[in-house]
Amino acid sequence: MPTRGDSPIRERAPSGPPALPVPRVLPEDPALPAPRVLSGDDPDSIAIAAERLRAGGLVVFPTETVYGLGANALDARAVARVFAAKERPAFDPLIVHLADASEVGMYAEAEDADDPRVASLAARFWPGPLTLVLRKRAVIPGIVTAGLPTVGLRVPDHPVARALIRAAGVPLAAPSANRFGHLSPTRAAHVVAGLGSRVDVVLDGGPCRVGVESTVILLAAGRAVLLRPGGLTVEAIEAEIGRLEALVDGAPGTPELAPGRAGSHYAPRVPLQLADPRHPESAPIFAVRPGERVGLLAASDSGRAAAEAVGGPFAAVEVLDADGDPVGTAARLFDALHALQAADLSRIVAQPVREVGVGRAVMDRLRRAALDAPPAPPSTRHP
Ligand code: TXA
Ligand code: MG
Repeated sequence: MPTRGDSPIRERAPSGPPALPVPRVLPEDPALPAPRVLSGDDPDSIAIAAERLRAGGLVVFPTETVYGLGANALDARAVARVFAAKERPAFDPLIVHLADASEVGMYAEAEDADDPRVASLAARFWPGPLTLVLRKRAVIPGIVTAGLPTVGLRVPDHPVARALIRAAGVPLAAPSANRFGHLSPTRAAHVVAGLGSRVDVVLDGGPCRVGVESTVILLAAGRAVLLRPGGLTVEAIEAEIGRLEALVDGAPGTPELAPGRAGSHYAPRVPLQLADPRHPESAPIFAVRPGERVGLLAASDSGRAAAEAVGGPFAAVEVLDADGDPVGTAARLFDALHALQAADLSRIVAQPVREVGVGRAVMDRLRRAALDAPPAPPSTRHP
């Protein structure tokens, strides 16, 4: 039976290891009961979760990027529950997660599945943070792809995800396990706080290693288009298959190819401004007015010092990267935003990071998070 109530949020599986403490994250809706949280390491948990999926239920599982809210991708009713639990608009398609690259031909049209670029990317980067959008076969219900003729396919690089897909025996349609427009979850506790008992089971696999969502590229009909920068760098993909076409937000054709790029995304519930403290015209953004509680998302220790030199004092500070490591920056991004969101702030000021490698994905998420906030001065690019 599902565990109800507020504590403990993590249940001990019948014969599994003891439950670990979960970092405190504020519930987004305190009235929502907790879901059943099971240890992802325990084979019994996998069996229980797989059974729920086969019965049309919703199971949250860890991947290397972020936690996914999974349903049987071949069951349109189950997929409809994913959209309802997330409050996701029906125009935004879901990624289908496979246990193994050999399954691509079951769900994608042969012409795309047999594209040699698919084989070379799959061999090089799967399992991993890469989603390939290919023309779909009829077995994938239209609700999964929001009526598009293409489907996003990915083999996640997480032992719990792959064990679950194998045990369920079906591909899993899974968006990030957050409410639509909210921050993506990189810990089970984020999922519990955001979705509560809207899901049947949460498999806890610890913090996500990559921390930003997969890179999404369209390889349908001979094209190669970057739809979303993510955990796998564009540089690595281009080294394998050559140049990717870039999409421009707002340009003709973009909404049809990448419906998920509409509007503000990944937004914390507190207004977020993107500004570089090293630019003199940004100084007013770092100034804290009386009665204001401002949070700082610093790119690095030196960025923090620069922000504190022109503004502050800040009520809460998160430093993305203390060691000059862009991969670590990405891994910490959502964790840091969740922490700032829970700190009762009036606004968050975030510094830009260098836009190379996974830094592109970090800046993409920060720009989208900043969309609803008052405009920052023009110079928000990293020097
Ligand atoms: O790392 C990830 O990709 C995570 C984990 C759970 O796998 N999933 C994830 O899903 O981020 P979601 O739904 O939050 O984002 C999927 C993105 C959306 O922007 C969606 O529009 C795009 O992929 N997408 C999916 N299928 C597509 C398709 N057929 N054509 C164009 N874009 C597609
Ligand atoms: Mg998402």
